[in-house]
Amino acid sequence: MKPNFNSFCVLCILIICGISAFQNFTGHKLLGMVPRNPDEVKVLRGFLDDPEMDFWLEPTYELQNVTVHVNGESGKKLESTLQNMGLQFYTITDDLEKWIEREREENYPGSHLQGRTTGFAFDVYHPLDEIVAHLDDVSRKYPNLTKLLNMGDTFEGNIIYLLKISSGGNDTRPAIWIDAGIHSREWIAPATALYMINHLLVNYGNDKYITNLIDSHDWYIMPLVNPDGYLHTWNWNRLWRKNRALAPGFPGVLICRGIDPNRNFDIFFGGPSTSSTPCSSIYKGDHPFSEAESSAIRDGVMALRDRLLAYFSLHSFSQLWMTPHGYTTLKAPDFAEHMELLTVAITAVEAAHGMHYRYGPSAQTLYATSGSASDWVYDVAGVRYSFSVELRDRGVFGFLLPRTEIIPTSEETWAGITSIVSHLQAKEKVKKSSTTSPSTTPLPTTKNTKPENTTDTS
Ligand SMILES: *[C@@H]1O[C@H](CO)[C@@H](O)[C@H](O)[C@H]1NC(C)=O
Ligand SMILES: *[C@@H]1O[C@H](CO)[C@@H](O)[C@H](O)[C@H]1NC(C)=O
Ligand SMILES: *[C@@H]1O[C@H](CO)[C@@H](O)[C@H](O)[C@H]1NC(C)=O
Ligand SMILES: *[C@@H]1O[C@H](CO)[C@@H](O)[C@H](O)[C@H]1NC(C)=O
Ligand SMILES: *[C@@H]1O[C@H](CO)[C@@H](O)[C@H](O)[C@H]1NC(C)=O
Ligand SMILES: [Zn+2]
Repeated sequence: MKPNFNSFCVLCILIICGISAFQNFTGHKLLGMVPRNPDEVKVLRGFLDDPEMDFWLEPTYELQNVTVHVNGESGKKLESTLQNMGLQFYTITDDLEKWIEREREENYPGSHLQGRTTGFAFDVYHPLDEIVAHLDDVSRKYPNLTKLLNMGDTFEGNIIYLLKISSGGNDTRPAIWIDAGIHSREWIAPATALYMINHLLVNYGNDKYITNLIDSHDWYIMPLVNPDGYLHTWNWNRLWRKNRALAPGFPGVLICRGIDPNRNFDIFFGGPSTSSTPCSSIYKGDHPFSEAESSAIRDGVMALRDRLLAYFSLHSFSQLWMTPHGYTTLKAPDFAEHMELLTVAITAVEAAHGMHYRYGPSAQTLYATSGSASDWVYDVAGVRYSFSVELRDRGVFGFLLPRTEIIPTSEETWAGITSIVSHLQAKEKVKKSSTTSPSTTPLPTTKNTKPENTTDTS
């Protein structure tokens, strides 16, 4: 199809206008509501494909919170629908711009923040260039413990980094994978991953528990899966979710950019809760693994699959710990063990700061998601313990979580992850000591675990 020249020019003007200013959310509202029955859920879900309705908490089941960001026009449309249904709603804020400006004030370079000049502060959100410089510093400061790997270049030419933390073992130790920031507006996720990297490195050799975690496992942390989207949230549109790639072959591509990398994995591609429309915030892309971000995770996980003990993908928000599957509500083969591990994690998470998190298989806990990383890691890469975590909060600030919550969120999430790793380690020990001939027949689930004289601290 040949584009009409005039409409092409209109597109050009739209693009120039669209990208030439930081998007101003003055008058944009955040509305909250709680559908009372499945019919109301269904009506609300009817708005999902409307690009003007930016759901922060999708309608899932009755009596679950729904939060949606609307502009003046779409707000009126939604409010009148809700009034006709007799469904009460409340305004969380009627000026999102105020929240965004508050956040900018608190986090922008050149603000009053201490730590910008003296080192990397972990209680503040950082722009992309500072994160990249920090990873570089870390790899130079800890040359014997870390290796900074380039897992691919993005559409806009940014690098997707993977930090390997290992104290030896020649790539035979069980590995733990943590990734964050595949959705760019979920700022708390990369902030949490960066906290974890620092926590591991500064405590190695000083803290017995952390030293053991590193001496018994290799840690692979991808703290910012989607740097292009992240850059866009800092420079143009704070609420951008996808990457910034152009979708080939669509007439609307010049205006509607971006593919959701967490709908782009080769597992139930195009299934429930994905979109084929480039303007949608859950646009799945043209074909599986068309994107650098999903491919980076695939390549890293595939290279480690024989020794990858557990996979964690960090998102925000709503305070949930989830296991596969996302594309079906049928129980996963490892359902019972998943629930056991989730219970262990939730207990540790809640013990840290008393925060309540819900947990369960993702399609039942959150909503259907097809083509997602954690399902692919479980089903295709064959990693039995695959988790997807929605961090704080439960809808008070949503994606605009104040920076005062970064450290507590990081601490409780770290407690959850380490409780799972320690629990699995303890189970291995029990298995090993009850095996009669450990030297000749390795257990199928030992995954090259080096025999260790470890101390249980959890
Ligand atoms: C956003 O728009 C409002 C109203 O037009 C204006 O008062 C405010 O200064 C703008 N904010 C920015 C950051 O440009
Ligand atoms: C790294 O290991 C080498 C060889 O074991 C040692 O000489 C060096 O001091 C170590 N460097 C750091 C920063 O620990
Ligand atoms: C590490 O592995 C490589 C390749 O498998 C092997 O050549 C090397 O000898 C090993 N090194 C140690 C210290 O085991
Ligand atoms: C629903 O939203 C309200 C107000 O933001 C919050 O206090 C409450 O905890 C939320 N409920 C659930 C189940 O998330
Ligand atoms: C294992 O730890 C115990 C208790 O700390 C100690 O007595 C024992 O010697 C250790 N064994 C080895 C092989 O290091
Ligand atoms: Zn997400």
